[in-house]
Amino acid sequence: MNILIMGGPGAGKGTMSARIVDQFQVNHISTGDIFRSEISGGTKLGLEAKAYIEQGLLVPDAITNHMVKHYLEQLKDPKNGFLLDGYPRTLDQAKAFDELSKGTDLEIDIVIAMEIPFDVLAGRISGRRLCKECGEIYHIVSHPSLKEGTCDKCGGLLYQRKDDTIESLQTRLKEYTAQTEPVLKFYEEKGIVTYINANQSMDDVWQDVKKALETK
Ligand code: AP5
Ligand code: MG
Repeated sequence: MNILIMGGPGAGKGTMSARIVDQFQVNHISTGDIFRSEISGGTKLGLEAKAYIEQGLLVPDAITNHMVKHYLEQLKDPKNGFLLDGYPRTLDQAKAFDELSKGTDLEIDIVIAMEIPFDVLAGRISGRRLCKECGEIYHIVSHPSLKEGTCDKCGGLLYQRKDDTIESLQTRLKEYTAQTEPVLKFYEEKGIVTYINANQSMDDVWQDVKKALETK
């Protein structure tokens, strides 16, 4: 099964992606995670993407499309399908991906659209902490680690993302409305979108996501 998870910044895409990967053994492709790892590795791609990401702007389509194509070609276990998290998020990216996947086993089967009021997102973003080692996602209120600043899973240090500021969030929300909402319409017309209420407890959101995927 090929899954696309969509939603605004902090809607819970990464949190649900971890559970989806665990349950359905699909390959996870998160463009945000890939860009962050390229930035911390100081690669050419990382240098190109850094300024955009820190300001909350989208990285240009040509760079992003090329990167995703490259990752898809290198999937460890292609027959298990994949989960796209954070891509496509412009109409041009959606059309490029459509072109690439049409008639192949890369076509998207289901879009999980995480719906949440924008005013909840500042609290999600400002309280988020991530593990430097394994990427586990925490929240200082809704999902704290047992020991402050330390990952429960691997003992790694927790950090805050550079783009998790209120200024960057405002830009990310504008980008989402202007560029990503039309992508949702694009998939709606294909009849493959399932809407999920993302403004519930993590376990309740997960029950809804799991049900949507199991009944697909
Ligand atoms: P990306 O990394 O994709 O960031 P984003 O879309 O802004 O989304 P986030 O990762 O911030 O949020 P999330 O929905 O994953 O939420 P999470 O589960 O962590 O992209 C970053 C940047 O990279 C972009 O701005 C852009 O510059 C660039 N980029 C990426 N893809 C691109 C593309 N295709 N084209 C161009 N540029 C691209 O949860 C958030 C917090 O809430 C956590 O603390 C979590 O614990 C908590 N939480 C989650 N669920 C719940 C719940 N149900 N109840 C309470 N708390 C919850
Ligand atoms: Mg994420």
